Amino acid sequence: MKDIALIKLGGSVITFKDRPLEANTKAIRDICIALAGLKEIPFIIVHGGGSFGHYWSVKYDMHTKPAPYDSRGVAVVHESMVALNQIIVNAMLEHGMNPYGLPPSSFTSSRRPIKSGIAALATMAANGVIPVTFGDMVHIKDASYSIFSGDSLMSLIAGQIKPSRVIFATNVDGIYQDMHSKKLVAEIELQNGSAKTGSADIGFGPAGTDVTGGMKRKVAEAAKIASLGMDVMLVNGLEPARIVDAARGKKVVGTRIKGLLSS
Ligand code: IPE
Repeated sequence: MKDIALIKLGGSVITFKDRPLEANTKAIRDICIALAGLKEIPFIIVHGGGSFGHYWSVKYDMHTKPAPYDSRGVAVVHESMVALNQIIVNAMLEHGMNPYGLPPSSFTSSRRPIKSGIAALATMAANGVIPVTFGDMVHIKDASYSIFSGDSLMSLIAGQIKPSRVIFATNVDGIYQDMHSKKLVAEIELQNGSAKTGSADIGFGPAGTDVTGGMKRKVAEAAKIASLGMDVMLVNGLEPARIVDAARGKKVVGTRIKGLLSS
């Protein structure tokens, strides 16, 4: 495993999901202040779409399934994600970090990894530049495009780099036992490849306007990473100290999905 942290900033943290094309600038700033203090370990950032990419994806009825979507939709989803990336990159610059925004098309092709490009992400991070990539609308072949979610990118990058820390930040503390009690599940062990707690399956709210599948999809992706042997932490990104403490390997409030090979 490489001594590097792979951190996903969910769209629910960095945007207001119910306000089209509105970034949560306070949350972004608070995260930047916290991340600027993270000197112990290099890191790579992946961010989601929230009310940027998802807003247009819903409007143009575009999904993760490759299809010849409306060209206008392809254009505006990508543009909105680049705009959100710029907001994050600029906030990081303002807080003294050295981010480098790059779309997934620079290290994947038809959603498959380009090995050298992914290796470069880790090398950049290890040498003081922070790669900041994002879920995006990507070209598949001919007229076909697909939404490539930030969560899927996490699996793809983690699968090759094998980071020592994998962190998903959302707007909730982690996984709740059920939507009613909101009791946090501190740890999940994988059973037969799916994530289950000791006593019961986990409850999820509806995906709502999220074209890539909401929390359920996120946990499936996190479980996929854990099945490769890495621990995955789900934390509340609105409490940014938890992100950086998780990256430092400290015990934090959140849900840990145990890597299959870890004890
Ligand atoms: C979505 O990425 C990207 C687009 C809709 C283009 P994610 O699916 O990772 O975004 P969030 O974190 O759930 O908002």
